[in-house]
Amino acid sequence: MTLRSADPITAVPRADRITESGCNLDDFVALTRRTTTLADYPHATSTERGVLFYDSATVTAATGEAREVLADELADALLNGPGIVVFAGAFDDRHGLAETTALFQDIIADQNDAGVSNGDHFAKPGANDRVWNALQKFAERDPELFTRYYSNSVLALISEAWLGPWYQVTSSVNVVNPGGAAQNPHRDYHLGFMSTDTAASFRAHVHRLSPALTLQGAIAHVDMPIESGPTMYLPYSQTYAAGYLAFNLPEFREYFANNYVQLPLSAGDAVFFNPALFHAAGHNTSADIKRMANLLQVSSAFGRAMDAVDRSAMLRWIYPALQQRAAAGDARGVANAIAASAEGYAFPSNLDLDQPLTGLTGESQAQLVARALADGFDAARFDQELSALDARHIP
Ligand SMILES: [Fe+2]
Repeated sequence: MTLRSADPITAVPRADRITESGCNLDDFVALTRRTTTLADYPHATSTERGVLFYDSATVTAATGEAREVLADELADALLNGPGIVVFAGAFDDRHGLAETTALFQDIIADQNDAGVSNGDHFAKPGANDRVWNALQKFAERDPELFTRYYSNSVLALISEAWLGPWYQVTSSVNVVNPGGAAQNPHRDYHLGFMSTDTAASFRAHVHRLSPALTLQGAIAHVDMPIESGPTMYLPYSQTYAAGYLAFNLPEFREYFANNYVQLPLSAGDAVFFNPALFHAAGHNTSADIKRMANLLQVSSAFGRAMDAVDRSAMLRWIYPALQQRAAAGDARGVANAIAASAEGYAFPSNLDLDQPLTGLTGESQAQLVARALADGFDAARFDQELSALDARHIP
């Protein structure tokens, strides 16, 4: 497809500062009043209040150049379009959706039994239950189910489309209990996770870079009618250059409150959005819906993820399940599960020790796992080679 963002080089903005006093609500309104035309997104099945919907079976089936063209469209939707896409039925029985919901509930029950009270960035104690670093906890509890869940091709495609290869998946489970309050509208990590003054100390080009360093996702683990408070969004708000400074300003908050979009989701639907999109979790006004989502924050290989994850430990846990999946012939699913668990980038590295095998870089964890599976390493050999690789990454 022809992208609509082909600005001539002369139109590239200067590396200026962005200031709070330069935030202008009229500019923001003009940008966010746009409508989404389905014809601009030939692979989408529908639009609802400006949000694009995609059929997960079609996305999963795409291969080769057709997959690349679809990825072009999705990246453009996140960058220049509404900034949010929904994949209906992205996770289902084939990915162990219901079993994973039960596993997350078990982790929360164990946390509660152990007296763990997890703090939250935005919510009052008791309003919600959090599982931080759910990626690692999931892999430890049930490696086979983890591998099945993260063999998902929708997650892999949208992550590659937005971030390129070698992305780093992190996950936290959030259950918003009945009565759980709404959040204030915000942008996400990186520049959304600091004070306005600190964000203002980064010049404009870094404000344009920040959204390219992460992708936000949410997998619904229960049906989420509006009364349960699914996330509120303002389509196109990611295109406002000063948004990291504007989202806390009263007039912008008020505009968001009067114009947000909130859509019901079904269990298994997956939403992905540009981290610069103005958004906020909704108020759970239901009597009895515990609104569970697996919140994915996928980082660029070139950024620092928020969560510290012991990826080496995860790989040791899941290696036998990867072997079984590979033996069953699911090459795509294995590649997706490796991408969701292994470190995909070869740096930072100890360059005294880590000599390139070929090309410019040493072997990454992801490359080692793929080689181990292809060459039929047993678990002991894999453990040995992974230890050696990790040693080459310690100064
Ligand atoms: Fe957020």
